[in-house]
Amino acid sequence: MDELIDPIQLVKDTEIYKNCKNIVIGKGNLSADIMFIGEAPGKNEDEQGLPFVGKAGKNLDDMLSKVGLSLEDVYIANILKCRPPENRNPLPDEIRTHTPWLVKQINEIKPKVICSLGNYATKFFLADGNVDKMDDQPGITSIHGRVKNIVFHGMDIKLIPLFHPAAIIYKRDLLPLWFADMEIVKNEVKLTKIQKTLI
Ligand code: URA
Repeated sequence: MDELIDPIQLVKDTEIYKNCKNIVIGKGNLSADIMFIGEAPGKNEDEQGLPFVGKAGKNLDDMLSKVGLSLEDVYIANILKCRPPENRNPLPDEIRTHTPWLVKQINEIKPKVICSLGNYATKFFLADGNVDKMDDQPGITSIHGRVKNIVFHGMDIKLIPLFHPAAIIYKRDLLPLWFADMEIVKNEVKLTKIQKTLI
């Protein structure tokens, strides 16, 4: 996206922008090697203007700290920058309008690894940002923890799909799978660091 384009201009005509209290852009380290991408802000996120500050956020914080990661190490953002009413699923047109902002963030942060949280974020990246192809992509249950080398808007990225932290609150049997997947994430980050020092 053109550096000079103000992302708010892109989303300002969407209903979810008109109805939200705050735009939720992201949080964490802008120089991080890992980005976590969720779906959309919920009620708490809308109120505070920050992603993952509600129940799912608390769960994500706990799960990250258990593998030795904090906001110093990661950057967290969402597919949609505004809360859909009643937390309904994102609509294709909303994804189309809001994701150029996410692409701009990824371009600026240049992460080595992107962890997509849940189905929407995962399908967005697997479809290479083409919203019309999202439905054709595999679901999170069959693809979590698999490292996919993708070229996303010209950037070489390792995509690692993970279960959404909100799903893990209710399905505790997903927790061991999350920790196994996080070991894969940490190894990939370590590998990219080693590769960087070899160049
Ligand atoms: N769920 C998400 O996907 N994102 C948030 O910011 C909060 C909950």
